[in-house]
Amino acid sequence: MTELQIHKGLAGVTVDYTAVSKVNPDSNSLLYRGYPVQELAARCSFEEVAYLLWNGELPTAEQLTEFTRYERSHRSLPDNIIAAIDLLPLTAHPMDVGRTAVSVMGACHPLAADSSVDANMEKATSLFAAFPAVVAYDQRRRRNQPLVEPRDDLGYAANFLWMTFGDEAPAEVVNAFNVSMILYAEHSFNASTFAARVITSTLADLHSAVTGAIGALKGPLHGGANEAVMHTFEEIGIRKDESEEEAASRAKAWMEDALAQKKKVMGFGHRVYKNGDSRVPTMKAALDAMIAYYGRDEILGLYSGLERAMDEAKSIKPNLDYPAGPTYHLMGFDTEMFTPLFIAARITGWTAHIMEQVASNSLIRPLSAYNGPDERHLS
Ligand code: COA
Repeated sequence: MTELQIHKGLAGVTVDYTAVSKVNPDSNSLLYRGYPVQELAARCSFEEVAYLLWNGELPTAEQLTEFTRYERSHRSLPDNIIAAIDLLPLTAHPMDVGRTAVSVMGACHPLAADSSVDANMEKATSLFAAFPAVVAYDQRRRRNQPLVEPRDDLGYAANFLWMTFGDEAPAEVVNAFNVSMILYAEHSFNASTFAARVITSTLADLHSAVTGAIGALKGPLHGGANEAVMHTFEEIGIRKDESEEEAASRAKAWMEDALAQKKKVMGFGHRVYKNGDSRVPTMKAALDAMIAYYGRDEILGLYSGLERAMDEAKSIKPNLDYPAGPTYHLMGFDTEMFTPLFIAARITGWTAHIMEQVASNSLIRPLSAYNGPDERHLS
């Protein structure tokens, strides 16, 4: 009899093929449809990357014009979505608001039950176009500010910032935000994408799969880590007038204490990458640009103090959430909005995987090994 093997957490298990992206921990690389993510982040808009993930190729100029026209005309939130958001208390976490909004969008979509290629492409594109308004409106209502309507003369990143803050962001900030969206867009069979594929494999609709994926993303071992990173910075204390060196030394002491207490420090470590996350250098450059733009050297001190202390003690490297958290903080987003920003980006990857799953479906239904009581009977 062959010995039963349990793959706890599915670690190391290859469950299917995908042509959407390739994560290679040995070469420390990440390819979207064959293109290194660093090249895409340096040269493309997030709209082009969304198109690439869904269609397998970057758009021609004509295709981009058509795609952009469609995306810009679907940015406004319909009244019923605004009403659904308004029903939720301000005590609800913004991830719950995002999850609920997507669920309501699905329930109201005229093609809700249609999972044909055309219907799914339409649903993916309109969700991609409208979700930023959910995040922007949710942050504004929490600050007692009125909704800001989208602008169709701005690209995705610039419009997202416009709807959130009500003024036009400078090019440096738009660029860093665009880079973050591209880096967050896709990462093969991570927990939320796998959740989306499991749901899709039952022939449930696209919005159901995205709603479930948002639930998986919320946890601090996955997307919730970018928010948790900022809580760490806040716990250490962000002191605007402090020098980089002073902040680094306080951060180092905090990390040594946390590790002595065997705490897991969010923003570090990765299930697949063991020698550093391929996306971190590009996101760190975007963070550096924001630190320089806003003149906030103490953030760099906290960042490098924690990173160095973790490396010295455990050789565990930061993941993408580590530089992304403070970048969004500097841009002015509330900490609880960081993981919803991740949703906005990852809608592209999730829906690309959903469409791939539909195209070559097999119900995902693994086995379990029973270790409960032996068979027994009611007396
Ligand atoms: N802080 C402190 N120790 C960590 C750590 C972290 N962030 N990540 C891993 N470790 C340690 C574990 O304590 C464990 O040590 P041990 O063998 O002495 O018990 C070892 O490294 C292996 O960790 P494990 O959690 O089993 O590895 P994994 O592959 O299952 O974990 C993560 C991957 C992402 C879940 C894990 O690194 C983690 O929890 N990171 C923090 C959350 C996070 O940032 N998530 C975003 C991921 S993109």
